Amino acid sequence: MEKPDLNLNAQTLSMIAHKLRTPLSIINGYCEAVQAQSKHSLEPFTIKALEEISTQGTHLSQLVDKLSAFNRVLATTEQNLKKQTVELKPLIKESAAKALALEENLSGAPVQTDTVRRGTFVETDCPPQLFITVDAQLLKLCVEELLANAMKFNNKTEKVIKVQCLNHGNSISLSVRDYGIGIRPQDVNRVFEPFYQVDDDFTGQITGWGLGLPMVRRIVELHNGTISIVSDRGLGSIFTINLPNV
Ligand SMILES: Nc1ncnc2c1ncn2[C@@H]1O[C@H](COP(=O)(O)OP(=O)(O)O)[C@@H](O)[C@H]1O
Ligand SMILES: [Mg+2]
Repeated sequence: MEKPDLNLNAQTLSMIAHKLRTPLSIINGYCEAVQAQSKHSLEPFTIKALEEISTQGTHLSQLVDKLSAFNRVLATTEQNLKKQTVELKPLIKESAAKALALEENLSGAPVQTDTVRRGTFVETDCPPQLFITVDAQLLKLCVEELLANAMKFNNKTEKVIKVQCLNHGNSISLSVRDYGIGIRPQDVNRVFEPFYQVDDDFTGQITGWGLGLPMVRRIVELHNGTISIVSDRGLGSIFTINLPNV
């Protein structure tokens, strides 16, 4: 008898993501409905339990979204990139807004305002009218992932993240800098391996799949670009994407 092929390929992962989505949206939907309807008549314990179900439900939905995004990127080839010429600054602003919204959703963290210095701040230093020819949806995914990591691997109450874009003539660089926990030298290259997460105590408690950076690297390479990391444990990290200016 032929041995069954147990390798999890992109198609299998994509089916898993798809199958999880429907029950999850029902759980999240009912949770929200109960919270909205009966706020005043519930016991404190029930309120707390519903809050936790809602947080974990949101978290699980985000995990499923990430798995789907990873699969989409795996299935993309250089030939089916949807390239267009776009201005970089608004693209970064959009990605930052999305990353901030997801972070707020997950942690209930206060969002930045222009005047109060607390929460998470994304400072963008990008020349206006800097255009780039890329698959904009995929580049947004990259920026969102780098920003999400910069927020996640950061224990500070005020998180400052700096995005800088530079035009080098034949290439354009985009760097995301954080002042978070940083990465040790022995882990710097390993973080691009699928499912690799720096887990000091092997608790398995880090949220996410360890698929974000492999996805970012694949997107960058589909554009014939490169990605590099400069990082110091305790001081923070700089992730720099370099894309050819075509
Ligand atoms: N900005 C960062 N600062 C510190 N560590 C990071 C940063 N970005 C990524 N890492 C490390 O690299 C690992 C892999 O990142 P990623 O592929 O995005 O997976 P995930 O975010 O799902 O854990 C993370 O689990 C973390 O240990
Ligand atoms: Mg990540």
